[in-house]
Amino acid sequence: MWGSSYNGFMKSSDGSEVGSEVPPIWGIYEIARSPDPWARWAEIREHSPVLDVGEGLFFVTSWALVDQVVRDPDLLAGSGVARSMSGTGNLDYDPTQLWLMALDGTPHSRARGLVRREFTSSRVGMLLPFIEDNANRLVDAFFAGAASEPKDFVSHVAQRLPSEVIRHLFDIDSKVWETDAHGDLVSRDIDPAETIGSLARFFEAQCEIGGEGLLSKLRSPDESGAKLSLEEVVSNAVLLTTAAIDTTTGLIANALICLLRSPGVRERLCSNPSLIPAVVEETLRFEPPALSCSRYTRESMSLDGVEIPAGSHLLLGIGAANRDSAKYPNPNQFDPDRDHTGLLTFGGGRHFCLGATLARMEARAVLESMLSRIGSLTLVEPVDWRSSNPTVRVPRALWVRTTSG
Ligand code: HEM
Repeated sequence: MWGSSYNGFMKSSDGSEVGSEVPPIWGIYEIARSPDPWARWAEIREHSPVLDVGEGLFFVTSWALVDQVVRDPDLLAGSGVARSMSGTGNLDYDPTQLWLMALDGTPHSRARGLVRREFTSSRVGMLLPFIEDNANRLVDAFFAGAASEPKDFVSHVAQRLPSEVIRHLFDIDSKVWETDAHGDLVSRDIDPAETIGSLARFFEAQCEIGGEGLLSKLRSPDESGAKLSLEEVVSNAVLLTTAAIDTTTGLIANALICLLRSPGVRERLCSNPSLIPAVVEETLRFEPPALSCSRYTRESMSLDGVEIPAGSHLLLGIGAANRDSAKYPNPNQFDPDRDHTGLLTFGGGRHFCLGATLARMEARAVLESMLSRIGSLTLVEPVDWRSSNPTVRVPRALWVRTTSG
């Protein structure tokens, strides 16, 4: 069964051949693209928590090992996301090589310090009124429409709010954002590689226009005079946009999916708003919008008895680790009451997500504004997961309607 159901995995950790019909790297990513990857990941974890996929790629699936690797200071930044998005779209630099996620050591801490100034809890906290107002506005309009006919929660709420928050942060004119960014780049299920070059050109043009938003803040020197170059500002603007919108869309939409599939939790939530943060944490674990991140080995190393050569690519299965029963008992049960300590969905160590607080705030605000009405929602079509990017788990659309009574 192992060999036939895992086409593409060349070797298990004991070296035996387990399948070779499709190129191995694509085989491993194909699982992430499938609607129900959990059982296959569990099988891989039980068989080989560090799976030698071939071609220098190792897939790590146990919580303890992913947690260890993601924090290992000797490992280099991965290019998993960058690889899935590579393509410079006629630019004379590659934004995926300049943005924070691709950097190590001093260049990373220098650039991260300069970007992080705008993502401290106090800075992000100042966005709360804007987020709440917009969540209420979008959710009200959504429920007004969903009473007469099925409506797509993703395009009307889950994607709209994170896109609007990023537009607001960058202080970009709504019409310009709609035509040049959201409508064309952000909201389409397109190859991520196509998005990078176009977004970079969009932000280059915005830099020329000037303004008071995040671009000019990122360009300003800190108190020691250090500052990001124009190319670094543009590259990190592209990172912030691509890292923020799809993932937060996934968090908001996946929270609704989890609640629609767990009527007991939904009922409890309606009468107990204090459950909202726990529902968000459990969604992050159970249906994580980010399915993986990665690291490179500078030197050879041994991981759980598997010898890994220098220059290997470690694909860290966040989604798989989140369902590891050794860390989370009954992992396939959506249970907001569980202990969420050690959640890996925002990564860990030096590259820990800069937008974790912001994403949580947005998801909580949407649930808060839906609370009294969430019980009336029903799913009218099976969930259609997006498959263009194997590192994110987000539905293409979520058609729901309200039922009266
Ligand atoms: C639910 C939503 C989100 C999820 C699941 C998520 C997940 C992640 C993950 C897994 C990483 C890589 C960590 C690592 O390699 O150790 C990351 C990095 C990053 N995220 Fe997020 N993210 C989310 C939302 C956001 C938002 C809203 C922003 C910004 C507004 C953001 C900005 C970033 C940045 C800048 C990095 C790179 C940090 C670095 O390399 O130093 N993310 N995120």
